[in-house]
Amino acid sequence: MCKKDRETAKNDSLKVINPEASSSKGASSATGTLYAIGVGPGDPELITLKASKILGSIKYLFAATSKGEKESLALKIAMPHVKNGPEIIPLMFPMVRDKEALEKAWNEAAKKVCEPLFKGMDAAFVTLGDPSTYSTFTYLHRKLKAMAPGLKVEIIPGITSFQAAAARLQVPLAEAEESLAVVSGAKGSREIRQILPYCDNLVIMKAYRHYGEIVRCLEEMGLAQKTMAVRRVGLEGESVTTRLKEWDGQKPSYFTLLLTKKGKREKKLHDS
Ligand SMILES: C[S@@+](CC[C@H](N)C(=O)[O-])C[C@H]1O[C@@H](n2cnc3c(N)ncnc32)[C@H](O)[C@@H]1O
Repeated sequence: MCKKDRETAKNDSLKVINPEASSSKGASSATGTLYAIGVGPGDPELITLKASKILGSIKYLFAATSKGEKESLALKIAMPHVKNGPEIIPLMFPMVRDKEALEKAWNEAAKKVCEPLFKGMDAAFVTLGDPSTYSTFTYLHRKLKAMAPGLKVEIIPGITSFQAAAARLQVPLAEAEESLAVVSGAKGSREIRQILPYCDNLVIMKAYRHYGEIVRCLEEMGLAQKTMAVRRVGLEGESVTTRLKEWDGQKPSYFTLLLTKKGKREKKLHDS
């Protein structure tokens, strides 16, 4: 698809949405509210009271799933709090990098989410961890803002996976004047290498696909001894290691993160 066609497709998808909502006046006062709920990283008890209250009364519940996934993990975590027999609506996303396919999927998802909202009903979208931290919700929110400016959205923060990991490991994420950086390892170690000289503590999310490369980078920088790896915190199969190489070559878990503490106040983690 050429750039012009792509723009046309984008605009077409915006037009089909409630014209009132996409007008410069914004959404009508009769539209419902979308609650974007962070359900925490795994343990259903690591969820806010506010999130639990909304989940207990909501009538429309959206969750992102991909083809390979039997059930949305965010939805599974939310279920103990769901009480009102809501309509549960999966939003399908292909696990691909193809921008057009993703764009199409997000447009369709945003349209689906708007349906109950334009009928004046409230709806919730559940997402793993926190909705503002590497979350699928960010893409959905962007689409909704473009399609229906002024739509009422309330974001309910959640406990992030790295907060839960620090609690599990019983190490502080940062203390006193230390700094804390959070990076994605989805594309390998380049950014990690760049940022490490400037921070005292580093969280490396999405450390699954390039785990081996990231570990080698940490070794080269003399920081492997100051790093802990966590898999599936709060979920079945949870594990932690300070011997990073142990996991190299194993089937990677998507739910892997690393915590490097090169801070002034930490000795080698292995010493404790
Ligand atoms: C798309 S991000 C989602 C982050 C999430 N919104 C949060 O607040 O933690 C996915 C990455 O988060 C991390 N992650 C999420 N849940 C996790 C868990 N239960 N245990 C370990 N890492 C987890 C992993 O690094 C995973 O690759």
